Amino acid sequence: MHVLITGANRGIGKTLADRCRDRGDAVIGTARDDSAQVVLDVTDPAQQADMAAALKDQPIDLLICNAGVYLDKGQGMDGYPAQMWAQSFSTNVTGVFLTIQALLPNLRAAQGRIAILSSQMASHTRAPGGSYIYRASKAAVLNLGRNLATDLQGDGIAVGIYHPGWVQTDMGGHAAEISVEQAAVGLLDRFDALSLGNTGCFETWDGQPHAY
Ligand SMILES: NC(=O)c1ccc[n+]([C@@H]2O[C@H](COP(=O)([O-])OP(=O)(O)OC[C@H]3O[C@@H](n4cnc5c(N)ncnc54)[C@H](OP(=O)(O)O)[C@@H]3O)[C@@H](O)[C@H]2O)c1
Repeated sequence: MHVLITGANRGIGKTLADRCRDRGDAVIGTARDDSAQVVLDVTDPAQQADMAAALKDQPIDLLICNAGVYLDKGQGMDGYPAQMWAQSFSTNVTGVFLTIQALLPNLRAAQGRIAILSSQMASHTRAPGGSYIYRASKAAVLNLGRNLATDLQGDGIAVGIYHPGWVQTDMGGHAAEISVEQAAVGLLDRFDALSLGNTGCFETWDGQPHAY
């Protein structure tokens, strides 16, 4: 199976890449630096075009849109500057769309699957306050995934949206609930179970349906 993972140089993306390789998948990792196979800042349309050209005629069975930022952690009510909104949405929402758009021919060729890492913080049913930018961006990418699921069904492409858990990474911090290994193993089980039968699902890493 050919798998492409964005943000594969650290955190959940790196461990997903490692576990996929362990089970024999052909993994194409992307990163902003040159530590992975493909250099890709997901916000950069020119780099997206370069990636699409380099991977032309390469079917992709599973695209994992993992790259993301949580820039407004700890912001106070006088914070949340406009530039932070722009940068966050550029990565967490636009970057996901541009990646999927760039790789659609590859996904169509394989009737592949798309896994989008959102968050439980995307859900309208959870509103503890704060982190407005991150929450809004993850809600937006959940909505994007749900609508792509509708539009790509005819191409045989399933789209799933996932909460990876609260994970011990640079983003999640040391106090987080689960290890990156637990998250990666759970997520890969979810991705394996993704099909046209459950396309548009929003699930947690351990297989629970999440409220939208
Ligand atoms: N950790 C959690 O508890 C948690 C919970 C819910 C959801 N998530 C989601 O899970 C995903 C992975 O999180 P993580 O905990 O592994 O985060 P992380 O440790 O902070 O790693 C983030 C990854 O995204 C990459 N990235 C950021 N901006 C990028 C850009 N513009 N272009 C390409 N790559 C970019 C980073 O690359 P650089 O090294 O270049 O910065 C890094 O590889 C994210 O979408 C996150 O929102 C995480």
